[in-house]
Amino acid sequence: MFDDKKVIFSGMQATGSITLGNYLGALKNWVKLNEEYTCLYSVVDLHSITVRQDPAELRKRSRALLMQYIAAGLDPEKNIIYYQSHVSGHAELGWILNCYTYMGELNRMTQFKDKAAKHTDNINAGLYTYPALMAADILLYQTDVVPVGSDQKQHLEITRDIALRFNNIYGDVFTIPEPYIGKEGARIMSLQEPEKKMSKSDENANASIYLLDDPELIKKKFKRAVTDSDNAIAYSVDKPGIKNLIDIYCSFTGESTDSAVAIFEGKGYGNLKAIVGDTVAEGLRPIQEKFKELSQNSDYIDSIIKANAEKANYMAQKTLRKVKKKIGLPQ
Ligand code: TRP
Repeated sequence: MFDDKKVIFSGMQATGSITLGNYLGALKNWVKLNEEYTCLYSVVDLHSITVRQDPAELRKRSRALLMQYIAAGLDPEKNIIYYQSHVSGHAELGWILNCYTYMGELNRMTQFKDKAAKHTDNINAGLYTYPALMAADILLYQTDVVPVGSDQKQHLEITRDIALRFNNIYGDVFTIPEPYIGKEGARIMSLQEPEKKMSKSDENANASIYLLDDPELIKKKFKRAVTDSDNAIAYSVDKPGIKNLIDIYCSFTGESTDSAVAIFEGKGYGNLKAIVGDTVAEGLRPIQEKFKELSQNSDYIDSIIKANAEKANYMAQKTLRKVKKKIGLPQ
């Protein structure tokens, strides 16, 4: 962290459990990044309150998310895994950046429009200025690269615009972040509507596999996976259900697509679903065991939380001091 490695920042909201999609598409590929980068992974709880939350639930889910990061393989001694709300610099820089963000820009954000349409009884100012807080998350650590899904591209774009605007006025204050282009896992689709991305918030309980789902439940969900009316196993965009199952299988086994297709050829859909279900249930077992172990060791988790918040805070203060000085706030 105190060396000159490049910085990676990413955040997740604790508004649902991590799905197989989040795991295979993101988390699993982050495990090795700490060799090359200083990595910060934040549970972005300040973002979560832009939508009304039950306090006890939010607290519980935030801690569970943090533990899932660790259980999934992110070493908390080598990665900075922390709560956003534990580093006050996020809120501070968030406010400052609000003053460098135009309403015209915020009006164009599709996530705001979507969420405002969904929560018509609570269209609050925080929901509207969410992008300035997200920009603060990223810029606070002089982040070089941000692994984000396609749904967050617009947020990264506005972050870059805000940073460039700020730098144009005050000189080189912020590193301009780039999207992470590295080895990304397959895009995992819904088991019920394979044309759609697997989502944390899907209302259909059979559509998503969660990292902490019981093995039997995982197998059951795979058995119910939507395929098609044909019965031939082929890897093709015309067969999104089958393609998704094969992608999931390959992500766990490291098998190539071709050899997976060869393995399943002539086996029928029932068999394919059963094998993929077993593979996933078994593949997630170590993560689930690790999670259970962590749950029983809350002193350890507490110490990790504290130590990592200190590391993040140290980095954050460095940027904040610079920003405050540039804009004329007293030292
Ligand atoms: N907005 C992101 C989401 O809803 C979460 C997030 C907040 C984030 N701050 C971030 C992601 C900074 C990457 C970098 O998924």
